[in-house]
Amino acid sequence: VKPCSTKFTFRTQRKVPRLGVMLVGWGGNNGTTVTAAILANKMGLSWNTKTGIKHANYYGSFLQSSTACLGSGPNGDVYVPFRDLLPMVHPNDIVFDGWDISSLNMAQAMERAQVLDWQLQEQLRPHMEQMKPRPSIYIPEFIAANQEGRADHVIDGTKAEQVEKIRKDIHDFKMQSCVDKVIVLWTANTERFCDVTPGVNDTAENLLKAIEKGLEVSPSTLFAVASILEGCAYINGSPQNTFVPGAIELAIKHNVFIGGDDFKSGQTKIKSVLVDFLISAGLKTVSIVSYNHLGNNDGKNLSAPQQFRSKEISKSNVVDDMVESNPILYGPREKPDHCVVIKYVPYVGDSKRAMDEYTSEIMMGGTNTIVLHNTCEVWHS
Ligand SMILES: NC(=O)c1ccc[n+]([C@@H]2O[C@H](COP(=O)([O-])OP(=O)(O)OC[C@H]3O[C@@H](n4cnc5c(N)ncnc54)[C@H](O)[C@@H]3O)[C@@H](O)[C@H]2O)c1
Repeated sequence: VKPCSTKFTFRTQRKVPRLGVMLVGWGGNNGTTVTAAILANKMGLSWNTKTGIKHANYYGSFLQSSTACLGSGPNGDVYVPFRDLLPMVHPNDIVFDGWDISSLNMAQAMERAQVLDWQLQEQLRPHMEQMKPRPSIYIPEFIAANQEGRADHVIDGTKAEQVEKIRKDIHDFKMQSCVDKVIVLWTANTERFCDVTPGVNDTAENLLKAIEKGLEVSPSTLFAVASILEGCAYINGSPQNTFVPGAIELAIKHNVFIGGDDFKSGQTKIKSVLVDFLISAGLKTVSIVSYNHLGNNDGKNLSAPQQFRSKEISKSNVVDDMVESNPILYGPREKPDHCVVIKYVPYVGDSKRAMDEYTSEIMMGGTNTIVLHNTCEVWHS
């Protein structure tokens, strides 16, 4: 591996550190879309659609598209772009790499995802086809059996050898790409929950021994361990319990940042905000019913009971903190009824549709019911 010579890019007057992001599940809908979107912004791409010309932008990026209020001056409130509060890496300066159990290159994977407009894909194809995910760790029992057909790009060997291979990938990427820092982000399929067993994953030492002995350790935890040992922050974008107690202890020991419990970017985000709003207003939310249907590969994987269960837990636990915060409304073990349904409907593809109903008790025996419909998609232009 040839080490790089330049350490910084010069976007602005300041020296800006370069960030490397390695995505686990790079060839999936999230992985291909974020890579394509950043490339399109970097190249300033525009494309034609039936509703007119669209231009690459960063809408929905908290850092790039939101503002913060600095206070009030003689001419009213003063807002500045959030990105200007502190020196931060610009997304255009992120260098991507990653792994996938599917061997498609990133152009083929973008086409399979059916997320972006065709004319945009045509412009991106020559760049995206240069990128190819590295082979990954596949332990079939952790994701749905319906994913098996995709797994043609996997690392052989024992669990200990697989962790070593991932560490080498991170090290090689760091050396070749001239980045100052590497972050590893899990955006692969939702796994089933891993049993938390004393002697296996309860301490850092036991977890490392369990990997040596080939005991039950999920692929996402193997990636977390490899990242921690390489000193790279690890973010978990899926709902499974990657951070078993042993993984948390290992991260503390190595002083490495780990975080994340599902992206919570759509329906679950709305749920956190609405429940905060309702209970903070003194209303007693008594029933939350969330129904979803989606037709992408995430939906296909979640149609299996154990993977659905991981998602159900993550969608439900955003309510717990708010309920516990208000002993005036809720007794010690009292919780709202909470029901989560996810259905796989292939025809709707990546259009993720959610319907929610929130019922709260108001004063004098009355009730308030909010019903909302939320569609998250990047098509239909
Ligand atoms: N897109 C959203 O709005 C959203 C929101 C919250 C959470 N999530 C979660 O993010 C994850 C990714 O979503 P998506 O829509 O991109 O799914 P996807 O199925 O399109 O992509 C997942 C990718 O991971 C790969 N993969 C599976 N196991 C792997 C492994 N062990 N190593 C490497 N690659 C592996 C698959 O081949 C696939 O390409 C899912 O767990 C989903 O529940 C998504």
